[in-house]
Amino acid sequence: MTHMAIDFGDVEAFIARAIRSRSTADLPLLGHGEISVVLAWPADEPVAAVKRVPPFRDREAAQKYVDVCAEFFDTLRNAEVAAWPTMVHIHVRDDDRAVVYHQQPIADLAQLGSNVMRAAPLADSHPLLDAIIEAAARVCNPTLGFDCQLANWLWDGNTATQLDFTSPFALTVDRDDLRYDAHAFLQEYPLVIRPYLKKEFTSLIRRFTKAEGALTDMVANMMKEGLDEWVEPAINAINLQLGSNVTRVKVQRMYDHDRKLMPSVLKLKKAQRWWLTHTGRRYEQLLPVRTTYHE
Ligand SMILES: Nc1ncnc2c1ncn2[C@@H]1O[C@H](COP(=O)(O)OP(=O)(O)OP(=O)(O)O)[C@@H](O)[C@H]1O
Ligand SMILES: [Mg+2]
Repeated sequence: MTHMAIDFGDVEAFIARAIRSRSTADLPLLGHGEISVVLAWPADEPVAAVKRVPPFRDREAAQKYVDVCAEFFDTLRNAEVAAWPTMVHIHVRDDDRAVVYHQQPIADLAQLGSNVMRAAPLADSHPLLDAIIEAAARVCNPTLGFDCQLANWLWDGNTATQLDFTSPFALTVDRDDLRYDAHAFLQEYPLVIRPYLKKEFTSLIRRFTKAEGALTDMVANMMKEGLDEWVEPAINAINLQLGSNVTRVKVQRMYDHDRKLMPSVLKLKKAQRWWLTHTGRRYEQLLPVRTTYHE
């Protein structure tokens, strides 16, 4: 039941139709982050959450990405950080490009970290924050970033369980590239700006390789989520547990940077979609109506 067999050819056909109509209106959406759109499947009687990673050039490139995902699951297991059960599938299309799907049980969104904190009475601390801080301290390392934002966690009152695995922040030893072909993600952008974006994104990912950076990002996201009142307790908990010096000013600076970057990135994607579809080519990404930074 947890992982019913899904025909990803059907999912892909369904999504292809939505991409062509440029609308997510007919899709049973469970949510979206900056990278992927999360669907309930099958649409009429959902039993699973599916997340689509844009197509890789071929099966080999997809396999490399899947291997990195598998390694990340191992890392979490060794660090004793809980992971939401996830199956990663490669679907090779008729045009030989390979789409990767992550399949998970549908989570109870009342348990989503951001919703939990929104519902919790304000206090000096919260066990979910402590659990995330501990997880970040165990997982982050110079070649592995960990996206710790609250919307990537489920909290059942005891355990913080990570649920976002679509873009593992696994860097090469020299830390200037991802360990899988980032083309799948970069193809959404106009060709001329890809080298610039690749640099920008790689430097963004390096932020997550230190617990302090990953957690400052978590707090910056709390500002976005309307969780301002928890900013102070979160900063205190981080500094107490890590011996770090996170401040409201640093958090604000990061938030301002991201707030400028992400909407312009979505505009770039939309421009690229216009360009490709007006030159008779296929656009591959299902875009959210807006970024999670509401303008
Ligand atoms: N298994 C699930 N069941 C129900 N809802 C889910 C599930 N997984 C994700 N979601 C919803 O979709 C949102 C985005 O999911 P996720 O973080 O995996 O996507 P993402 O695009 O990879 O995000 P990011 O921008 O952080 O990389 C979650 O915050 C949550 O609201
Ligand atoms: Mg996410």
